[in-house]
Formats: sequence, C-alpha cells, structure tokens
Amino acid sequence: MREHDSAIATAQKPLPLDVAALRADTPGCERVIHFNNAGCGLVAKPVLAAVVDHLNLEATIGGYEASAARATEVRDFYLQVAALINTTPGNIAFAGSATHAYANALSAIPFERDDVILTTRDDFISNQIAFLSLRKRFGVRLVHAPDLPGGGVDVEAMAALMRHHRPRLVAATHVPTNSGLVQPIAEIGRHCRELDLLYLVDACQSVGQLPIDVAEIGCDLLAATCRKFLRGPRATGFLYVSDRVLRAGYEPLFIDMHGARWTGTDRYEPVETAARFEEWEFPYAAVLGSAAAVRYARQVGIDAISARTPALAARLRGHLEQIPGVRVLDRGRQLAGLVTFAIAGWQPQPFKAAMDARGVNSALSFREFAQFDFADKNVDWCLRLSPHYYNTEDEVDQVAAAVKELSAG
Ligand SMILES: Cc1ncc(COP(=O)(O)O)c(C=O)c1O
Repeated sequence: MREHDSAIATAQKPLPLDVAALRADTPGCERVIHFNNAGCGLVAKPVLAAVVDHLNLEATIGGYEASAARATEVRDFYLQVAALINTTPGNIAFAGSATHAYANALSAIPFERDDVILTTRDDFISNQIAFLSLRKRFGVRLVHAPDLPGGGVDVEAMAALMRHHRPRLVAATHVPTNSGLVQPIAEIGRHCRELDLLYLVDACQSVGQLPIDVAEIGCDLLAATCRKFLRGPRATGFLYVSDRVLRAGYEPLFIDMHGARWTGTDRYEPVETAARFEEWEFPYAAVLGSAAAVRYARQVGIDAISARTPALAARLRGHLEQIPGVRVLDRGRQLAGLVTFAIAGWQPQPFKAAMDARGVNSALSFREFAQFDFADKNVDWCLRLSPHYYNTEDEVDQVAAAVKELSAG
C-alpha cells in the first residue's frame, strides 16, 4: 500500500488536538513563526507527500496514466470537501483559485441592465472589482448594505434592501481579507431563502478555521480556497453549487468539454453535476494535495480548530491592545483568526521587514484592499497577523513582544 492509500484508509480515525504532534507534522514550524495563514497556511507532511508522490508518479509513468491510476484518490477530493461543508460530491467543483471559482459562478448569471447586486462593504476586493466590471459591461447596479455601528453588516437593513430591490444576486464574504470580522452569513441566507434570492458566499478565509455548513447557510454558490486555513497547496480551491442552481440550468459562460458534451454540430449539453464549473485540464498533484489537506483538517476536527484558532487571535489582540502606539482594527460581533492593527511611526514595508527579520511571517493590507473599511477606520495600511491551531501561545506572546519592541523603537 502506498503512503497516501494508507492515509485514505485511516481517514476517519480522529487525531487528538495535540499541538506538539501537529507541529512535528508541519516542517515549516521549525523555521518560522508563521502568522500568515490568511495568506497561505503551512502544509502538513501528508499534504506535501500527496503532491510530491503524484509528481513522481507522473514523471515515472506519464501524466495521463498517473491521473488514471489515482482516480479513486482524486474522487476523494470531492468526498472530503462535501463532508467538510455538508453537501454531496456532485455539488463540488475543483477550482484553481477562489477568485476563479467566484468569477465562474458570476459568469453563470445572465445579468441584464439594471439588475441589482446587493453586497456588503466588507466583501473581498476582487469581488468588488468583478461587480464593477459587470456594471461597466452590463449596466447592473451595485448596492452595499450598511454596517452596524460596532462593525459587520446590518442584516436587518440588508433584508430591507432585498425586499426593496429584489436583487439578481446577493453576495457576502464570510471573513474579509482585511480584518478579523465574521459576517453573519447564515442570517443573510435565511432572508435570501425566504425571498428566493440567488446567494453567493465567499468563504475563502473561513473554510478550515470555522465550520461551514452550506445547508445551514442557505447559499446557492460558495467559493473557497484550499491554501489558507485548510493548509492545502497553492492554486487550489473549490466552488459549491447547489442542486437548485444546477437544476435551474446555470452554467459558466465558457463551459468546456469537461463541463458539457458536444452532442451535435450545433448543440451541447451541460453535465448534471457541479463538474459543469470545472475545466478538462486539472493540476492532479494539487488536487490530491487538497484532498489530503481537507482530510487532515477533518481529522484534526473543525470544532477543535474553530475553538483554538480564534482564541489564539484573541490572545494576540489582548496583548496588542496594551501596546502604546498600536491600534487594533478588528471590529464586529464575532472575530476570527485574523488580527489587524495600525502602528504609529512606521511605514508599511519597513515594519513588515522588521517582523520578517524577527522570524515572524505576516502580511500587509492597504486601503486599496478595503476601500470602505479602511476609510471608516481612517487607516491607509495595517499589518495582518493570522495564527492557526498549530501555532502556540508562546509564539503569540513572542510576536506581541516583537511588536512592542518595534513600537517602542
Ligand atoms: C476573502 C477572500 N476572498 C477571496 C480571496 C481570493 O482567493 P484566491 O487568491 O484563491 O483567488 C481571498 C484571498 O486572499 C480572500 O481573502
């Protein structure tokens, strides 16, 4: 039995949340304090092995032959993702990125002039640009629901806008890239279902750190990446497509020979499943790595992860709030594992470089990433620190100490 065969065989065996063991399983933990999981998580050994094994197999027997030999493991990607988000494998499409999944979903909606897209002020930058592009090309109207005074979308106000505009699409990002905010996507979903509105969720920053249940959310479409809190390889993601959407005949604008059958010289038929949203060519090594990553997250346990990751972030915020010159920027009823803050007396790149020099991986966010949010907070940039369950309390304290030292300097 090969290594990843045995991993599949043991897929249902739960791992205890043993941080020392999880770190031993994560080669990067030996080198860096990785607080950039919102950028890209550190992969665990089984994920690395799944990717490398497949590349070796491709080199040994040929690319097409290797994917045929690993057909069962490839199918496991769909089983794993479906189990993770409470749906069935036929509702999952693999995607090369969350952005690609999202754009493909948007391309399936036959927008017409004056159709309304209702979204939030915290939706992801690329989604906002895509909406503006749809406005430029098709003349759709964009409506942004207002926020509550304490941060996060005002769901009641958003529901009133749904009733008023009857939007062609309601779009919400669960956790934005630019702060720790968790948006109430299931509350929004309840209104969408009541009013029978098409609902698209961006779960890119939440999948792998918070439970995602598409039945509870009530969404029609949900896009996510595998490389962030799921700790998969880069250039991997997925799109969930509900039965409602599949039955209604939505299909991406550029559907290919994998998503459809060419049934005559002048016709084609989309396939019945979410494979309609995929393309023929697949990065099989990355798909197998993603399957391993989702399997790993499920073994660790999303409940345990969703308790620990936000708790580490809360500990970090607690420390940062005590540092003179530091302003923690995360607002909202519920906060996730992303910690953002402004620091007086520093420019962005030198500050990040100083963190790098202390062995701490972090990320910068700029006004352009979050035009509404950063204008409200009156900041042009912030540093984002995003720990995950395999980080330690000691690392949190070290990172806070590094910020304190730099702030004093
Ligand atoms: C909230 C959110 N949505 C979407 C994306 C885009 O993901 P990808 O880079 O996989 O296209 C990101 C990436 O940072 C994100 O933070």
